[in-house]
Amino acid sequence: MPGIFITLEGPDGMGKTSVLKALLPKLTHISQRPILETREPGGSKIAEEIRHILLDVNNTQMDDRTEALLFAAARRQHMAEVVEPALAADQIVFSDRFVDSSVAYQGAGHEVGEQAVYNLNLFATKGLLPDLTLLLDGPVEVGLQRIQKYRQNQNDRLDQETLAFHERVRASYLRLAAKYPQRIVVIDATQTLSDVVSACQSQLIQHFPELFKEAFK
Ligand SMILES: Nc1ncnc2c1ncn2[C@@H]1O[C@H](COP(=O)(O)OP(=O)(O)OP(=O)(O)O)[C@@H](O)[C@H]1O
Ligand SMILES: [Mg+2]
Repeated sequence: MPGIFITLEGPDGMGKTSVLKALLPKLTHISQRPILETREPGGSKIAEEIRHILLDVNNTQMDDRTEALLFAAARRQHMAEVVEPALAADQIVFSDRFVDSSVAYQGAGHEVGEQAVYNLNLFATKGLLPDLTLLLDGPVEVGLQRIQKYRQNQNDRLDQETLAFHERVRASYLRLAAKYPQRIVVIDATQTLSDVVSACQSQLIQHFPELFKEAFK
């Protein structure tokens, strides 16, 4: 695929969405190539419908493997409709969460098995993985504290997990980073938001100097 595919990952509340929100306006101004921002689960009509099933608080009976399959199904649809066409058109695609989220949350968090979920997702993406993944890392309590406020009035099915679950998620992300050091860069997300954004910018410049140097001057 000719385009560039970058993903933001990390435990709940570590700042993925905030970092993207800060980065993308700067890029959009300067970039010669169109930039596409998307998110998972969802990102296309059918995938958003699957997201709705996944997040529905009434779906208390959902089996862990069903959940893993639905995430992979939503991802396939998102790839086919959104990500693959954009990359084929040489665009820069930023996705808020991707395959690593499934490995960490379903594979390790829900103990479906990290390798099984990874393999399932390679089927969903036809083997396509991001060119670069920015993993926002920090103690899970930090992220959970940051989102406590908006979780009080906006709870979904996936928000009802234990601290141990979130610890398994974080540990799994760090295992992925150790296993795929070329693709995944760990960013200390306990810093101030502007420092986290700067750290992400530095990584983007380092990995794609010709694309991002101008944008982040
Ligand atoms: N580095 C930071 N320092 C302090 N607060 C932060 C930082 N980054 C983000 N926040 C705040 O923490 C909250 C969660 O941030 P955000 O929604 O970006 O996280 P997220 O990783 O996208 O979470 P989720 O996994 O729920 O999607 C927001 O209220 C945001 O303003
Ligand atoms: Mg978010």
